[in-house]
Amino acid sequence: MKTMVSPSLLSANFIDLKSDVEMINRSEADWLHLDVMDGVFVPNISFGFPVMEAVGKYCTKPLDVHFMIVHPEHYIEQTAKLGAMMMNVHYEACIHLHRTIQQIHAAGMKAGVTLNPSTPVGVLEDVIRDVDMVLIMSVNPGFGGQKFIENTIRKVQRLRKLIDETGSHALIEVDGGVQAETAPLLVRAGVDVLVSGSYIFKNIDPVSCIKALKELKR
Ligand code: DX5
Ligand code: ZN
Repeated sequence: MKTMVSPSLLSANFIDLKSDVEMINRSEADWLHLDVMDGVFVPNISFGFPVMEAVGKYCTKPLDVHFMIVHPEHYIEQTAKLGAMMMNVHYEACIHLHRTIQQIHAAGMKAGVTLNPSTPVGVLEDVIRDVDMVLIMSVNPGFGGQKFIENTIRKVQRLRKLIDETGSHALIEVDGGVQAETAPLLVRAGVDVLVSGSYIFKNIDPVSCIKALKELKR
């Protein structure tokens, strides 16, 4: 299976989002990754529903929404209305994670659980068969263009083992510092979906850049 790619809109040109969404539409990207920040869960604020609605209407790829906010459970219905395919919530932001996963499914979306770099994969042991994806942060969330945290490779290997041992069908997605050097290491370690922001959008040929990431094989 080819590697899946979910370009992160955070590094797009916000004065001309339309051109960047058009680029995504004609590329081989599998999904579009949307980063929502609240200035509380992470020390930054990005964009919210009005922007995502506009982008969602124009984008032909499934939306992979990454909430870096407290109380993501308050926005499940609104995210479903957007037509999102995947709703990713942070483990660290959800007191009743199991209930939140059930509510995301009941709203008709796939459920992803995201782990900060300091959160071990073992905390997911009792929900791993209930989730559609685990999103491993390979930088501390909040900003694009940060340096990849090397420990992520071992973390992905541990998660791959947990998924295989439990018979879970969860995909593994990695987000942060994904570029030409780190992407092959991640795919070899067992990653299914690569999120990449600055590496794709700052490239002179983002369509070829996405294609190259997709060619990576385990
Ligand atoms: C960071 C976001 C990422 C970000 C990745 O908190 O979750 O999706 O856009 O950016 P790069 O690929 O530049 O590290
Ligand atoms: Zn993200």
